[in-house]
Formats: sequence, C-alpha cells, structure tokens
Amino acid sequence: AEKGLKDYYKSYFPIGVAVSTRALKNPAEVALILQQFNSLTPENDMKMGPIHPDSTRYNWGPADAIVDFAQAHQLKVRGHNLCWHEQTPRWIFKNPDGSQVSKARLLKRLHDHIDAVVKRYKGKIYAWDVVNEAISDNPQEFLRNSDWYKICGEDFIAEAFRYAHAADPTAVLFYNDYNTERPEKMERIYQLLKKLKDAKVPIDGVGLQGHWSLVEPTEQELRTTIERFGSLGLKVQVTELDVSVYPWEKDRRAKRPDESDAYTAEMQTKQTAQYKLFFKVFRDEAKYMTGITFWNISDHYSWLDTYPVAGRKNHPLLFDEQLKPKAAYYEVVKF
Ligand code: G3I
Repeated sequence: AEKGLKDYYKSYFPIGVAVSTRALKNPAEVALILQQFNSLTPENDMKMGPIHPDSTRYNWGPADAIVDFAQAHQLKVRGHNLCWHEQTPRWIFKNPDGSQVSKARLLKRLHDHIDAVVKRYKGKIYAWDVVNEAISDNPQEFLRNSDWYKICGEDFIAEAFRYAHAADPTAVLFYNDYNTERPEKMERIYQLLKKLKDAKVPIDGVGLQGHWSLVEPTEQELRTTIERFGSLGLKVQVTELDVSVYPWEKDRRAKRPDESDAYTAEMQTKQTAQYKLFFKVFRDEAKYMTGITFWNISDHYSWLDTYPVAGRKNHPLLFDEQLKPKAAYYEVVKF
C-alpha cells in the first residue's frame, strides 16, 4: 500500500483524525483513514450530551462503533471529552424539581459519568481529554464562568482527573484547550496546570487544539508554548489540527450575500507554508510531542464550514473535497 502520514511519522508520533460514525460507513473515507492515520478521536460521540443524554440512560452505540472500528484496524483512540461547558446535558445541573444541584451532588454525578465511560473503554482508549476549555477567554478572569465553575468552583478540574485516573490508571490524561499559543492565555493555562502538578493531581499532558489560521500562531509562539508546557513534565499533543483560510471572526454568524468563498491561490500558498512550518516545529520538538490529530478528514467536511460563519466553505485540511492530497500534504511528508 502507498505510504501515508502515519508511516512518514512512525518514528515521531501517531497521526490521528476526528471521525463520526457516518465517515466510518463511507468506503472512500475509510480507505483514506486506513492509509493515512493510526489514531482516531470521536468528533462528538463521546461528549457528555451525546453519550449520557438522560440521568438514567447512556447512548453507547456510536462511541462503541468507533472503538470497535479502531480495534478491528489496530488504531489508537483518544477519548474526547469527559468534562466541558458545551454539549453537556442540562439534566446534570438540575435537581428533579428543577432547582440547581449542590456541589456535592454535581461532583457525584461527574464521578459516576467519568467512571462509567472510562471503565467501558478501559484498555481500548489510550488517552482522554479529561477537562476541555476550562480557562476563560477573558483575561480579567482566570477560569471560564461555566455551570461547572459556578456550582463547584475550581475543584471540578482536579476531581475530574482523579476520577478518570481511578477508573483507568493506565490512561494518559490531558487538559485540552484552544488559543493556547496566545501568550496571555498560555500563561493562565500554565498556572492552572502547574497548580495541578504541584498538588499531585494525575494529569499527564496538555492538548493544544490547533485550530489555527493563515496568520496564527507564529513559529516563536508555537515553540515557546510546546517548550513551556514540556518543561512542566507534561506530554504535549496537538489534538484538533486545522488551518482555516479565514481570519477568526468572533461575532459574525452569517455569510454576506455577495461574499465569495473561493479558495484562492494566495490562500493555498499561505496554508501550505503554515502546514510545512507547523510540522517542522512538531518534529523539532519531538521530545515533548506525543501525537498530532486532525479535526476532520478532508475538505469535503469540516466543522469550519458552518462555524463561525454558516454556509461559508472552508478548506482547512490536507486532503481536498475529492479526498486527494493537497500541496500542503506533500510538504508535510517531505523531510
Ligand atoms: O446531532 C445533531 C442533530 O440531531 C441536529 O439536528 C443538528 C441541528 O443543529 O445538530 C446536530 O448536532 C450538532 C453536532 O455538532 C453533530 O453534528 C450540533 O448542532 C453542533 O453544535 C455540533 O458541533 C460540534 C461542536 O464541537 C460543538 O461545540 C462540532 O461537530 C465539533 O467539531 C466541535 O468540536 C469542538 C471540540 O469538541 C472541542 N474543541 C473545539 C471543536 C470545534 O468547535
């Protein structure tokens, strides 16, 4: 068989991809996955809302299907995720009478959730994103003012790691976040992770999501981030890599009527240069890096096609809409 990313990077780190059960039913996508990748992350199916929709019911089907596929093809699996402010079922924060739960009850529910999910896939999922995006985007705050934080204060973070470690002592446990290379946010994440390490909380690594663009991050920002987290004794992974061809627009949700979404030659050239640079840095920093995962398979489908601007086609990955390798792919495997 033709070589793929996983083969070129065999002596460096696993190369993963985010998948849905729909992709695993599509023969062309399956062929590309098996040629290129040796690790999977469920894009949505292990999040608390999808997998635990009611207090008394787990929806294991889609997550099981992804894990079974991985086992059948000897792929690693990263579990994503155990505690987040999005895609979280509302029942978890409510008493039967509709009032807000106490801290003790919420931590008990978090424990029971993590225990059930982690034990079900024990030995089949090698790494978990335990806590996702707990740091605020507002520099005036430290932690995000989520329901988890409002009810539990910061304790939910350490507890989530302890619960996951108890359920599977061999799983590699990550804190995962975005914009991790922006110096100010990086510093707050560093403070959080240092505090957890100092308190002997069982955390093994930090996930840099890697939702990047044609201008971000800079080489220096990326190196500094990897080395600073690495110096804490943490493993570093890029967990959700894509390179958007648009600048980030926080507050725009709709495409303008006259707006073109052409994938211009200039975008392609810049994107190729970004991918080339990022993988050069990953190889240089290989003593800290233990995995790179792409967020979606090809430009045929990306979460960025609907977010933040609905209906604006993005082209953020290494394979085009026909699943053919792009120029960026050839730069990533040339070293
Ligand atoms: O499954 C429902 C469907 O039943 C319903 O009809 C439809 C209508 O909205 O929604 C479907 O759910 C969508 C789900 O993706 C599955 O496609 C949700 O609306 C949509 O919000 C959800 O988006 C996901 C997003 O996380 C949620 O915040 C994206 O697919 C997923 O790529 C994205 O992934 C996150 C990572 O987990 C964490 N880091 C950021 C990253 C990108 O936002």
